[in-house]
Amino acid sequence: MKLKEQIKMAMDNIKMAYTPYSNFKVTSVLVTKSGKTYTGVNIENAAYTPTICAERTAFYKAVSEGEREFERIIIMGGKEGAITELTAPCGVCRQVMMEFCDPETFEVVLAINEDEYEVFTLKEILPMGFGPSNLK
Ligand code: THU
Repeated sequence: MKLKEQIKMAMDNIKMAYTPYSNFKVTSVLVTKSGKTYTGVNIENAAYTPTICAERTAFYKAVSEGEREFERIIIMGGKEGAITELTAPCGVCRQVMMEFCDPETFEVVLAINEDEYEVFTLKEILPMGFGPSNLK
């Protein structure tokens, strides 16, 4: 599946976001090196702190099914699900990416639609990241 199709897949899934408190909906598609895709949305909670971001939902779905090698993640979001600007991942999600991805090559794609997007490496958005290699 090509990047534009992955962006379309993310857009189509934004309706699954559960956001009764912020109404800020985020959707992601995580792509494995073998080409499989895992969707994720943010899931909020009345106690607030159990809320999970779209990016981590996608990672935890994939990792819990045995995936360990990732190529890129598409991220899109907006108030009431209207995507008008780029949504960047929070610091916690960047750290989770650092656990499973090569910061030099893993692509973080921030998209508005299939034609408007920007691609960053994990290293660009998380310089000097701390990861598994630091514990070796
Ligand atoms: N959120 C995400 O899902 N991903 C991000 O990259 C930024 C923030 C969610 C968490 C919360 O449900 C809502 O957006 C507002 O912070």
